[in-house]
Amino acid sequence: MIDAGLHCQCFEKSDRVGGNWVFKNKNGQSSSYRSLHINTSRQRMQYREFPMPEDYPDYPRHDLIARYFDGYVDAFDLRRHIRFETSVERAEPRAQGGFRLTLASGEREEFDALVVANGHHWDPAWPDPAIPGEFSGIELHSHAYLDPDEPHRLRDKRVLVVGMGNSAMDIASELGHPGVAAQVFLSARRGAWVLPKYAFGKPIDQNRLLPPFLPAGVKRVIAELWYRLAVGRPEDFGLPKPEHHLDQAHPTVSPDILTRLGSGDVRAKPGLVRRDGKRVHFSDGSSEEVDAIVYATGYKVSFPFFDPSLISAKDNDLPLFLRIFPFDRDDLCFIGLAQPIGAVMPLAEAQSKLVAELLSFRYELPSAAERKQHTERYRRETLANYVPSRRHTMQLDFEQYLSELGRETEAGRRRARTRAARSPRLTRSASEGRT
Ligand SMILES: Cc1cc2nc3c(=O)[nH]c(=O)nc-3n(C[C@H](O)[C@H](O)[C@H](O)COP(=O)(O)OP(=O)(O)OC[C@H]3O[C@@H](n4cnc5c(N)ncnc54)[C@H](O)[C@@H]3O)c2cc1C
Ligand SMILES: NC(=O)c1ccc[n+]([C@@H]2O[C@H](COP(=O)([O-])OP(=O)(O)OC[C@H]3O[C@@H](n4cnc5c(N)ncnc54)[C@H](OP(=O)(O)O)[C@@H]3O)[C@@H](O)[C@H]2O)c1
Repeated sequence: MIDAGLHCQCFEKSDRVGGNWVFKNKNGQSSSYRSLHINTSRQRMQYREFPMPEDYPDYPRHDLIARYFDGYVDAFDLRRHIRFETSVERAEPRAQGGFRLTLASGEREEFDALVVANGHHWDPAWPDPAIPGEFSGIELHSHAYLDPDEPHRLRDKRVLVVGMGNSAMDIASELGHPGVAAQVFLSARRGAWVLPKYAFGKPIDQNRLLPPFLPAGVKRVIAELWYRLAVGRPEDFGLPKPEHHLDQAHPTVSPDILTRLGSGDVRAKPGLVRRDGKRVHFSDGSSEEVDAIVYATGYKVSFPFFDPSLISAKDNDLPLFLRIFPFDRDDLCFIGLAQPIGAVMPLAEAQSKLVAELLSFRYELPSAAERKQHTERYRRETLANYVPSRRHTMQLDFEQYLSELGRETEAGRRRARTRAARSPRLTRSASEGRT
């Protein structure tokens, strides 16, 4: 935004940047645990304009990632544009376009455009409806989990971890290390292809073995054959047999869980169906006595500052053109509100460039009807390509998405030039608005 010459103000609830990557972030929203390392390699995750330091490992820990974001802000002199410890409590559309914001202090500020980048992995989604019955032990969501001793002492306890996403893998693996929990159970309501962090001696997402022109079906067969040879079959480790193909779910990456399952420190269980005191019952009729349940059941997409009649994401579903723009407004954009196969940051970087072009009148959006039509096609494809689940409502393929963004930028620039040629007086200067 600043590169494009826009007057830009950023409000940040916390006392520092880094969001999710700041362990024990003062904003109370970080889902980091003490042992968290990224699971997309640093080469994948880094901004194109600001590579991570060469001496960083392939999969740095959360504190190095938080330090990297600090470095980014300093390198581009962005700190002076950020008002720290300033939470946006309400965002209301103005009659003339733009938004009126109410800050936690009660102050009000007005802007011609609003860019929302409030993250989508901070509002815990508990099983809904709740698992039937009552549990008399400890229950927590993975959002609250910090380590085996905080916020609850899970060490030496019998612990059930629910879910097959990356939070479940990390937490079950950590608790399942010898000498930590007494016994860990991992409840999966469906199977998952658990991927290692490395393949062929490289971070798994750095392998480019298959030419991009190969049909998706051929790539899938080769990938599943590789998995069978290199890893085995998920059901050999006691996990449910996946009923979907390897490329039809958000990747579950864990270097440890299969070893922990193979060692018996973690025992695989099917879906949790009932709680009764400290006894938990599973869909295959078996039951276990446990002291604690960790629900690693994902996150809700939330915008507490919007009136739900304006913007809400029931069941994590918020259709947006290119995962950025609502159909009916040109003054509101979302950044990072996507679940890529790949990392979020380079996507957010590319999205930001497009938004800056829109707000400085160099890019023009297609009509509301075209945005809707395009988005509906994307939704149909997503539904067809991925397992139906709340975690796949905004799934996208990193490379395909970046190419599509590039093509649409060109098309929108042409629209903007045509409009400027037709009605030059409507072409405004970039510095007019406040974002
Ligand atoms: C445990 C875990 C591990 C992950 N690992 C990876 C990974 O390896 N690779 C990857 O690509 N992604 C990963 N993700 C996804 C993660 O969402 C992104 O990495 C990243 O944190 C998204 O950045 P963001 O800026 O969109 O959101 P966040 O990091 O959540 O940052 C949002 C920011 O907005 C601020 N904010 C929120 N609401 C307000 C408000 N009302 N007013 C003012 N400020 C506000 C917050 O304080 C925060 O600083 C992981 C997620 C989790 C939960
Ligand atoms: N090391 C890392 O870098 C790391 C660590 C943790 C998380 N992350 C990232 O953070 C994001 C969130 O990950 P996450 O693992 O917290 O959430 P997630 O990916 O949404 O996974 C949630 C899991 O819980 C299951 N689930 C949801 N509701 C359930 C219910 N009612 N009963 C039983 N199971 C239920 C889901 O199953 P279904 O598939 O059947 O819906 C899924 O297996 C992802 O982008 C992930 O990659 C990264």
